[in-house]
Amino acid sequence: MIKASAPGKLMLFGEHAVIYDKPCIVASVDHRISVSLKKRNDNNIILTAPELNIENENISDLEKSHFKKVSFLLTAIRNFFKKYDVKSGLDIKTQSEFSDKVGLGSSSAVVVSAIKGLSELFKIKMNEKDVFDLSYQTVLDVQGLGSGFDVAAAVYGGILFFKTAGKVIKAINVQNIPLVIGYTGIKADTPTLVKVVREKRTKEPKKINHIFNEIEKIVNLAKTEIENKNWKEVGRLMNLNQDLLRNLDISSKKLENLIKAALNAGAYGVKLSGAGGGDCMLAISKKDNLDNIKKAIEKAGGSIINAKIPTEGVRIE
Ligand code: PMV
Repeated sequence: MIKASAPGKLMLFGEHAVIYDKPCIVASVDHRISVSLKKRNDNNIILTAPELNIENENISDLEKSHFKKVSFLLTAIRNFFKKYDVKSGLDIKTQSEFSDKVGLGSSSAVVVSAIKGLSELFKIKMNEKDVFDLSYQTVLDVQGLGSGFDVAAAVYGGILFFKTAGKVIKAINVQNIPLVIGYTGIKADTPTLVKVVREKRTKEPKKINHIFNEIEKIVNLAKTEIENKNWKEVGRLMNLNQDLLRNLDISSKKLENLIKAALNAGAYGVKLSGAGGGDCMLAISKKDNLDNIKKAIEKAGGSIINAKIPTEGVRIE
């Protein structure tokens, strides 16, 4: 039995603009998803996924079900078998430390864990970029869009300066960032929001491209300030990034309530993280004020996700 696990992610800076060839900064989050794999003597792929109430079911019977995670997993396996010309029945078990509703990137973490686990099971050497490329291809095969920042966080861990499709993946060397993660309780619809922004850009290219250029400047400045652990300045840049996301019209009332609460509680900076419309917001502050900010977010109707940022990328357990 081989077990691989990969972390979740949160976007620190640069969401949406990253789709248009601008850099972003992504953080790995210390909540992991694991995939355990064992070869079978037949050709069946049998899945147990407690978080989806699936126990010992044939994955091809589940394929047409509403479980997105099943299609990610099955596509990852098919892509791996095709690329490395191998085949086997498998017993697979997934375990998750976070819900697929919070926006921490459960699909990419499951794909990356599966591919890393398969490379170990079939004794095929894959470096980090190989795992990234095949995992990113899998994500594109299933959902058709995305920059791959979530896949990069799952593979490499840490904090990454990233450009779409992994054209640039650079580690930003920092251990602990004093961040609070607040969850809105609302699932963000990433594909729809990406399309909304794309339509806006078609209608008003000058305005939207200007916003993306401004975001790019913020991302480049933020990279240096994170390296310098200058959290106050990182916070100021988060506020500027959030203003630009508001101009893209992808924030929401719930996100804004949580953002306001965190700012009133003394955060250096606060922004939404990811596509917008829901999922999580992030607040950065002095270490001794983090608890106050957590309380303020909860009082405003959010829930706190307690997780260390950053953490290690995919690994064999
Ligand atoms: O909603 P999330 O957390 O998957 O983030 C989406 C970020 C986008 O830039 C809007 C899309 C992407 O794939 O980069």
